Amino acid sequence: MKGTVLYEVKDNVALLTVDNPPVNPLSDGVRTGLYESLTKAEEDDSVLGVVLTGNGRAFIAGADISEFGGNVEGVSLNEVFQKLEHCSKPVVAAINGIALGGGLETALCCNYRIADKSAFVGLPEVNLGLLPGGGGTQRLPRLAGPSKALKMMLTGAHVPAKKALDMGIVDGISEDVVNESIEFIKNKADSNEEHPKVRDLNSKMIEARGDDKVLLEAQAMASKGRKGQFAPGQIIKCVEAAINIDDFDEGLKKEGEYFLECLMHPQREAMIHIFFGERAASKISDVPKETNVMDIKKAGIIGSGTMGGGIAMCFANAGIPVHIIDQDEENLKRGVSVIEKNYDFMVNKGRLSPEQKDAVFGLVSSSLDYKDVSDCDIVIEAVYENLELKHEIFKSLDAHVKEGAILASNTSGLDIDSIASVTNRPELVVGTHFFSPANIMRLLEVVRGEQTSDETLATIMAIGKRLKKAAVVSLNAPGFIGNRMLFGYTAQANMLLLEGALPHQIDQALESFGLNMGPFRMMDLVGLDLGWRARKLSGKESPLHAKIGDELCEQDRYGQKSGAGYYNYSEGSRAPNPAPENEAVYEKISSENGFTRRDISDEEIVERCILALINEGADILSEGVAQRAADIDVVYINGYGFPIWRGGPMHHANAMGLDKVIEKLEKYREITGNDVYKPSEMLVNLAKDGGKLGEAPQKGDRKEKLGFEMSSVANNF
Ligand SMILES: NC(=O)c1ccc[n+]([C@@H]2O[C@H](COP(=O)([O-])OP(=O)(O)OC[C@H]3O[C@@H](n4cnc5c(N)ncnc54)[C@H](O)[C@@H]3O)[C@@H](O)[C@H]2O)c1
Repeated sequence: MKGTVLYEVKDNVALLTVDNPPVNPLSDGVRTGLYESLTKAEEDDSVLGVVLTGNGRAFIAGADISEFGGNVEGVSLNEVFQKLEHCSKPVVAAINGIALGGGLETALCCNYRIADKSAFVGLPEVNLGLLPGGGGTQRLPRLAGPSKALKMMLTGAHVPAKKALDMGIVDGISEDVVNESIEFIKNKADSNEEHPKVRDLNSKMIEARGDDKVLLEAQAMASKGRKGQFAPGQIIKCVEAAINIDDFDEGLKKEGEYFLECLMHPQREAMIHIFFGERAASKISDVPKETNVMDIKKAGIIGSGTMGGGIAMCFANAGIPVHIIDQDEENLKRGVSVIEKNYDFMVNKGRLSPEQKDAVFGLVSSSLDYKDVSDCDIVIEAVYENLELKHEIFKSLDAHVKEGAILASNTSGLDIDSIASVTNRPELVVGTHFFSPANIMRLLEVVRGEQTSDETLATIMAIGKRLKKAAVVSLNAPGFIGNRMLFGYTAQANMLLLEGALPHQIDQALESFGLNMGPFRMMDLVGLDLGWRARKLSGKESPLHAKIGDELCEQDRYGQKSGAGYYNYSEGSRAPNPAPENEAVYEKISSENGFTRRDISDEEIVERCILALINEGADILSEGVAQRAADIDVVYINGYGFPIWRGGPMHHANAMGLDKVIEKLEKYREITGNDVYKPSEMLVNLAKDGGKLGEAPQKGDRKEKLGFEMSSVANNF
């Protein structure tokens, strides 16, 4: 059995310490230990009260996710909670560190809760497609009120101790939580007071009865922040039951039913796949675990534009001093003032105090002189996407920055090996592809060059964690992982437009599937002119899929930046309005290229775009550009707005069944005559044995197949 509970008696108080490193999840050994220790405390007449705490930095971080789907051994969580709630001696939870999910639910079964001042509490089950099924949906609203409880459960937020006190979740805060809790429970045991049980605190439920406002607000919040997800609606139903059903145990029963529905729902599997996928992504199969990680004390950024500013904020937010260099004084001033405005915005929203802003913004310095980054442990270049310019900058950085420091490029698609080749330290050169806005988007594609050392990679993965990014390794290949897939996907969206569908129909179909933003809204946002200009410069003819976009550019319709693209935009607004005047362009280009425009169903739109993603993803995997299918899913969810509840394109393919995927690919290959739909060899081979997309082939295969020829993949965006 995993984990245990240490039992000791101090001053007539039984001290129960959950011991299941590193974060004390409620594994079978912990549940059994809790049950037995409570029995022991009840049977010992000298024990007046019980203190429950955790060993190390966590109180209890939650359920043991590795037990999901298997046979649960030992005492069940429900039995432990009943024992705790009905304990014959008063119990206080001494919340010494994080108390999440089942951890907070455990504390809610105690009579009292005291938190260390650095502790956090939360019910983040929604992030795994679940609801707090250990009574959390029934008990938390009784303490915090239904509105605040719903907000906490629907966001899955970690609430700091001070706020938890204000919300009524804990009764006190302490700097010496175990000793003060011992003192506290002794006093309570000595008093004649009745020891409260959260289940009996009904006043906030009765108050909320007959008023739908709270539930309607929660529904609005869920449909905005968790579009398409199943669990949020179930959470709201649980709280509705808590409000309206007098009998607490009836409410618990409802919670159990709704929980089971979540557990059986495919979204749960998809979201847990991503939870584990993000953790797995940080492991690089051929980089030994014990590889040295460099100490990054100061970072440098070259270029104070859109990306440079956002990346600088990531470092400052993580408490790492960061120095920004730009060649242009005006741009530098503007870049730094954008950073300050972003922090001021957070202060205005109450997310930062003015003191916190001063502290974090104080970590950002700037100048025009490359010498000022010479003492940095890492320097990230984020200047214009131009290989010659990047060569120049890396030569200069190699000359100025101290020996042993990492030199990284934020390029969206240039050849990292070529960039590394101009330096005397290619082993310290790596791609760090942040996404825009870099201070918000979680994805970090880490591009591994031919000579990038294990130590450099391990350090970047560790930095990714410190910056709270979902870091995924990609080999140095055209478009890396994400942009290469995006290319195939948007090309198909454009082909659908050429064949007869309209941008708003395509966008709506894919947004209904769950994507954050349809491809035409996205192309308007990025700018249609980037690819068009690159093609004009190279003198190449537009490929079929780019013909309509290029014609729009000829008419000065570049997207949002010019107020018109596939859609029209009113001054100062990002809201897309239909552009019926474009339809004549669509008709003309379609007929010039031999297409008779036809009605295309939403089903065909979604299938063709998503199948293009899947097929490209399978090639990326078979070439070893990505290490594993889940890495591709993590990229696509965190960088490209793919719905987390579908688990990413690779998981979606596995869930559909690879034989089905192949059948559909063949169908569209026949309809369109387009080889984009020729099933990837990897899919065919896996489907033969009923397999699933998982690990990439071994490293040897990867290098052989790669051959970096810089294509124009990324230049299209
Ligand atoms: N914008 C995005 O959405 C995005 C997303 C991912 C990656 N990228 C990549 O990030 C990089 C930067 O893109 P951006 O959008 O932030 O560019 P940007 O145009 O907003 O900013 C570039 C900055 O670099 C400065 N600069 C140019 N030459 C310089 C030099 N020699 N020394 C110092 N500073 C110099 C410019 O003055 C400007 O301030 C590019 O490689 C781009 O492909 C961009």
